[in-house]
Amino acid sequence: MSDDEVVDLIPEGDEAQIASASPAPVERWRELVDVIDDARRRYYVHDAATLSDAEYDEYYRELEALEAAYPELVSADSPTQSVGGERSDMFEPVEHLQRMLSLDNAFSEDELAAWAARVERDLGSMPSMLCELKVDGLAVDIVYERGTLRSLATRGDGRVGEDVTYNARFLDSIPKTLKASKGHPVPELVEVRGEMYFPLEKFNELNDEMLADGRSPFANARNAGAGTLRQRVDRREAELASAKDRGATNVDRLQADLDRAVRRLGRLHLIVHGVGVWEGHEPTRQSEAYEALHGWGLPTSERAKVVASLAEVREFIKYYGEHRHDVEHEIDGVVIKVDELAVQDRLGATSRAPRWAIAYKYPPEVVRTRLLDIEVNVGRTGRVTPFAVMQPVKVAGSTVAMATLHNQEEVVRKGVLIGDLVFLRKAGDVIPEVLGPVVEERTGDERAFVMPTNCPSCSTPLAPAKEGDVDIRCPNQRSCPAQLRERVAHIASRGALDIEGLGFKAAGALLDEQIISDEGDVLLLTADQLRQSSFFTRDGGAGERVLTANAEKLLPELQLAKRQALWRVIVALSIRHVGPTAAQALAREFGDLDRIAAASVEELSAVEGVGGIIAEAVVDWFSVDWHREVVEKWRRAGVAFVEERAETGPQILAGVTVVITGTVEGFSRDGATEAVTAVGGKVASSVSKKTDFVVVGENPGSKYDKAVDLGRPILDAAGFQVLLTQGAEAALAVAASGPA
Ligand code: IVH
Repeated sequence: MSDDEVVDLIPEGDEAQIASASPAPVERWRELVDVIDDARRRYYVHDAATLSDAEYDEYYRELEALEAAYPELVSADSPTQSVGGERSDMFEPVEHLQRMLSLDNAFSEDELAAWAARVERDLGSMPSMLCELKVDGLAVDIVYERGTLRSLATRGDGRVGEDVTYNARFLDSIPKTLKASKGHPVPELVEVRGEMYFPLEKFNELNDEMLADGRSPFANARNAGAGTLRQRVDRREAELASAKDRGATNVDRLQADLDRAVRRLGRLHLIVHGVGVWEGHEPTRQSEAYEALHGWGLPTSERAKVVASLAEVREFIKYYGEHRHDVEHEIDGVVIKVDELAVQDRLGATSRAPRWAIAYKYPPEVVRTRLLDIEVNVGRTGRVTPFAVMQPVKVAGSTVAMATLHNQEEVVRKGVLIGDLVFLRKAGDVIPEVLGPVVEERTGDERAFVMPTNCPSCSTPLAPAKEGDVDIRCPNQRSCPAQLRERVAHIASRGALDIEGLGFKAAGALLDEQIISDEGDVLLLTADQLRQSSFFTRDGGAGERVLTANAEKLLPELQLAKRQALWRVIVALSIRHVGPTAAQALAREFGDLDRIAAASVEELSAVEGVGGIIAEAVVDWFSVDWHREVVEKWRRAGVAFVEERAETGPQILAGVTVVITGTVEGFSRDGATEAVTAVGGKVASSVSKKTDFVVVGENPGSKYDKAVDLGRPILDAAGFQVLLTQGAEAALAVAASGPA
């Protein structure tokens, strides 16, 4: 869906705009009600969403705006008047002791501020508030009578849910009895509300299992959670018992099915976030209620925080906006609740949501868009990768139009057809991913993707590198234009020789204009050669072509590139499986490319950080004539191929492992790594008990939290300098003297 289409279909919620733009508000109202009702039914009853959350929210807001402009449209069966959700008839109905409400949403700081202002106005002052994460899961209602579990139910329509009590016995996170704790006697009766969810790790395990069983995976953790909780385990048990009695032949299959269902339930977790009816000594604050719930053995969130101002609420929102993916389950926002229960009562509720709470929603990470085509890309090492070409769509703050589909098997596994409407996910910094098709939206005009049999760049027949490989490759490595272009651009990339002014386009131009014939020629480029390229020249007047600013910049960059560290030169050679880590290990150990070229598989794989696969790839690479020609061309251009630093300077960090997170002042990312390895230290990518130091720069990631958790010494930029110049002992003294 293009941005234009979104606007067309879903006005921004501006009442005036709707009033003037819609000749028939009644018709639009009906349309919206149908779409929302249908989405709710599919979401709650069939555990299969057909709209993304973002789309659902937008339709819902349009409906709210329309009803605000035309109050006469509001009727009791409008989705705005109910909490949403229905029951399937798979389970017995169970009436909640107190209604389960939904939450109103704020999608921006302004909407949050408007909610806070209303609360402040109604109360005369700002109350203390409880900030917690909005768990993207399945709401449940659990009743305990005299400390014993009486029922477990889904939310249903808010009044009546589905009775899934039988399954509670398989849910380890739901205590079957409550224990009294200090100051918190077990109440006569208590109705607890919470969210059941799959921790992401368990969700991935589950999906791997589904795939291994040849079944399609769940599109998201919430659908998987709902599907799991709503399994009729009791019926399966009965079916198995009767099959056993009859001596039926399908006993094994039924047993396996039952085991699987139980195993799935065992992976579901719970976080409690509220209370309905409570008979006994009642708390005065929501946060106090959580203490009691926790004391009784119920799982509460460790992340809930009581704050005194809107500024602190914003801080909480900002923090988890940046650390959203460090949480073990999916979150789609933050819930802000007035903490004091008497104040909650004073503010009251509408028919669907309390006025004392609001959900601040983060930008969506899953949207729907049209899959326009599936094209293939030929990579640097010849791998042919299908990728999705989509109608550009905004997701998690950026516009996405393409996503890799990895290989043909993956296209089949996802079940996507060209022309499908697809769910697309982009989580934070994570690479965009097509999750799967919206099957209900198919028209019959969609078509299956067919992997080409010949290279789209050079027409060479494609084949797997070896039998049984999923990936197929273009074997014309030396002269396939696509592979050549990728290799030339790779030489210039940041992780290789870091040549500014030689991007993907420039690489293509140099090859297309036959200024260079392969990657060997790149470092031999001269100003005269660049003058023959239309890409690197511009009209200088009087019919004369002069070098562009980019070309002027490129020439000195090429000189610098020739003096780059040996490991970077090795990375630039495009040897399969050899990235910066392996290249650094090889450079450190051998110190000379000619020695690496002469080494055997045994010698190479004896190096720490270089396994058998890498060792074989290195030997294979040097056995190819034209690869050695590339090396010789670079040698002619002035590349030394020796690790100058290996023998120089004191190795004061020998045996010391450092993890770097964030941008360290005064260093590029690679620069900081090089500074450590230059004095004999090792840089690791994740924090463990073996990490000697964690260097924390600007905008550190979760490695910082891990370092704190594991109690590893933390250094800031100044501490890092001490480490590099004075060694580990001096740095330890700095780390111990105060946090970074
Ligand atoms: S409080 C009356 N707290 O989000 C207040 N709800 O979109 C009702 N949810 O129906 C809920 N995390 O199922 C609350 N920390 C949290 C929550 C949470 C997730 C769910 C809940 C609710 C839905 C509303």
